Amino acid sequence: MNLLFDKIAAPFVQGALRLQSMFSAGYLSKVIDKTEVSARIGEVFIVGAGPGDAELLTMKAYRLLQTADVVLFDWLVDESVLNCIPRHVAREFVGKRCGQHSMPQEKICERLVSLGLEGKRVVRLKGGDPAIFARTSEETTALQKAGIPFAIVPGITAASGASAYTGIPLTDRRCAKSVRLITAQFENPKKQADWSAIAKSSVHETTVVYMGLKKLKQLSEKLMDAGIDTSIPVAVIDNACCNDQQVITGSISDISERVALATIKGPALVVIGQVVACRQAVSIDLLDYSYEKCTL
Ligand SMILES: C[S@@+](CC[C@H](N)C(=O)[O-])C[C@H]1O[C@@H](n2cnc3c(N)ncnc32)[C@H](O)[C@@H]1O
Repeated sequence: MNLLFDKIAAPFVQGALRLQSMFSAGYLSKVIDKTEVSARIGEVFIVGAGPGDAELLTMKAYRLLQTADVVLFDWLVDESVLNCIPRHVAREFVGKRCGQHSMPQEKICERLVSLGLEGKRVVRLKGGDPAIFARTSEETTALQKAGIPFAIVPGITAASGASAYTGIPLTDRRCAKSVRLITAQFENPKKQADWSAIAKSSVHETTVVYMGLKKLKQLSEKLMDAGIDTSIPVAVIDNACCNDQQVITGSISDISERVALATIKGPALVVIGQVVACRQAVSIDLLDYSYEKCTL
């Protein structure tokens, strides 16, 4: 009898108690108004989709995709990964593309909360790793406030994927003691990277710039103004780990001109440092990444 209660009735009782405490705290009335609240609370998995090639998904991510009720994904998630979602699982595109948010972050948070309140098992699929420039904490804060349990599954960040698929070793001990991940942020001086520190440490440190493609010229100028060695090698990696991966190399003084001459669509990473010159001759065709369907 007790076992029966634990398995069947207890989750509903717990869900009802949780909802009661949320209501009495007056929380999320806006979301709750629009939501069909279920007595059984759902759960949200914030999952890293990796940088492209579906075979770079973790087994945990793959399993969660198979057992989800609904998957919310954004533009960075590669089609090969989307092909791993079974047909019966609902998909919602919440596409965010640098600056062009087709769904504002606040709405994404509200949607996650409302699906959780409906009792759904949700996978929030994010490109790369959820901890790297992915605005995960806005989502987890909303979920926590709403009392919806969540977990985070790591993914391969674009820098790691690009390193492997181009052969650029981010911390080759011959020339790099450390690696720094930054975003190209120029608008707000308070949030800008410390350009002179980057210029100075570039002698023995690799810098990987996320979201830097459109600002490549400004980025190079900032670093040259800050005194970086103008011959320091730079690589721009477009669509790393995808079928159409491209790599453009040059120096900090000419990379923006070289990229302007190429057809680079993004997403792209900029790697700055001597490691670009230590590139290994990897044969990415051995990784057999050019397939259409997930073969896991
Ligand atoms: C909002 S950030 C998200 C980063 C992601 N969470 C990660 O860990 O890779 C988006 C930026 O990541 C980089 N990026 C993501 N996927 C990429 C890929 N396959 N190739 C190159 N750059 C990529 C680009 O700089 C892009 O503008």
